[in-house]
Order: sequence, then structure tokens, then C-alpha cells
Amino acid sequence: MGNMIVENDATTLDLLLEKVYRDGKHDFRGYKRGTVTRRLERRLHATGAKTYLEYMQLLDAYPEEYERLADDLTIKVSGFIRSPYTFQQVMKLVLPELVSYKRDHRQRDLRFWSTACARGEEPYSISILLAEFLGHRRRDFNISVYATDISRHALHEAQAGRYSPQEIEDFSPTILESYFTRQGEGYAVDSNLRQLVDFSYFNLVSTKIPPFMNLDCIFCCNILIYLQKQLQERVLDMLYDSLATPGYLVLGEVETPTDNMRDRLELLDTKAKIYRKNGGGNDI
Ligand SMILES: C[S@@+](CC[C@H](N)C(=O)[O-])C[C@H]1O[C@@H](n2cnc3c(N)ncnc32)[C@H](O)[C@@H]1O
Repeated sequence: MGNMIVENDATTLDLLLEKVYRDGKHDFRGYKRGTVTRRLERRLHATGAKTYLEYMQLLDAYPEEYERLADDLTIKVSGFIRSPYTFQQVMKLVLPELVSYKRDHRQRDLRFWSTACARGEEPYSISILLAEFLGHRRRDFNISVYATDISRHALHEAQAGRYSPQEIEDFSPTILESYFTRQGEGYAVDSNLRQLVDFSYFNLVSTKIPPFMNLDCIFCCNILIYLQKQLQERVLDMLYDSLATPGYLVLGEVETPTDNMRDRLELLDTKAKIYRKNGGGNDI
């Protein structure tokens, strides 16, 4: 036991995360240590390794353990319209302003990005919101909802778009009928919704170069909380660069932008954590 405390210290954890980055190609070095430690303990328990050093040896002997570890370190809890107040405020504060700006500037593209989309609940919720808000005006716009994540397993399920009755139970019968089809025990996302969402792999912490530009609205919800301050700053910088002006950033309810970002974004709703990037010209 004494051994375990000595060996499972912060330095050994750094070494372990460095190894996971170098040999396993998964970068969790800038994630908050509390979550990493708790999740790692589960892998130690599951594999029977008693110390981080023993676990490192195990990674060498069984490289497939890298994937299991990465899967355990990414928390994929999500839900449709996960934060109803946020979605309500996006409908009220973002969409009317954005659509009227597009009209005034004769722009047809509406570009959204769900940056940590898990099993697809968030991008499909965004698409439902857009479809409901636009109604028959939907055909006036080219809608793209980009949805990215680092979990290939989650992306695969998101693409399949099949959900259990419990997962979609908060939707009204009208929404269900409009966007889902009963399939066996569960529900499948209809193609009219599915075609709006473009799923792909993207690691938010691996590069400063955004995969998309000129985005009208970015959802970066419940991922920053897992990252250390410095990494949060880097991710937010990248998201800022990829926003159009005006452009909207939506964070998770318990998340806030870092200090340097707070000065560059206008807060539209404190509780819903909705921010706007404004252009030089004050046209909004
Ligand atoms: C708690 S879920 C949040 C899902 C959704 N945004 C929501 O608010 O319900 C966190 C997601 O972030 C993903 N994730 C973790 N690290 C990531 C990274 N570096 N780049 C992209 N996605 C990441 C996980 O795989 C997981 O699907």
C-alpha cells in the first residue's frame, strides 16, 4: 500500500501520460488531473495493475489497452436538448438575429459546429432547432451542422443515429413524428435531419488550426471542464478564429471562457453561456 502511494505520484502520472501520447497516440497531458486519476484507477482495477509503473509495463505487453484507456478517459455523457434553457435561448437570442443578418447580407449558408458531439445528441438537437425555427424558410438556406469528436466509437453510433425510447423520451410526439422513425425497440433519425449533419473525427487539443472556418455558431459544451486552463485557452483561441463575424459561441452551463477570451466576446446570456464575436463594423 505504501508502495502504491509512492509510485502513483504526480511525476509518474506525467510519465504515464507522456507514454500514452508517444506510444498510444492519445494526448491527455493537458486534461485535468482529478478526472484522469479517477478514470485511470478504473483501468488499474480492471487490469489488475497495482501501480502506474506496472500499468505502463502492461501497456507495452498489451498495446490494445491504449484504446481502452482512451475510451475510459473520454466521458461521453450527453443527451438530446441536454440543457433546455440554453437551447431555448439560442432559439430566442441567436437564430432570429443570425437569420436576419443573413437575409440583409444575401448570404445563404448557415454553418454550425458541435465540437464534442459524443453519440450525436447535440448536433441532431441543433438540427431540430434550426428546422423548427426556419420552418418553410429552411429551403432558403444551405445548412451545415459539422459534428466532431475523438471517440471513433461514439462517432460511429452518432452516424447510425439510432436511439432508445428512453433517450428520446423528452421530445413531444410532434417532434418525434417529424424527425424520427420507429425502428424495432428504438428510434432512428430520419434522413431529413441526418442529411444536415456532417460527422468527422477531430481532436480539439491536437492543433491550433481550425478544421472549419466562417462558422456562424459553435457549440463547445461539456468538454472544456475536463481541460486545464492553458489548454482551454488554446482551444478557445482556435474556436474564436473559426467563427465568422458575427458568430456565436455556446458553452456548457458550468463552463466559462478564459480571461483573455472574455474581453473579446460579448456575453449574451449569463446562464446559457452564449457569447457573440462581433466584427469591427458595428452592424449588429
Ligand atoms: C461529456 S461529452 C459532451 C457531449 C456534448 N457536447 C454535450 O454537451 O452533451 C464529452 C465529449 O468530448 C469528447 N472529447 C474528449 N476529448 C476531446 C477532444 N480532445 N477533442 C474532441 N472531443 C473530445 C468525448 O469523446 C465526449 O464525447
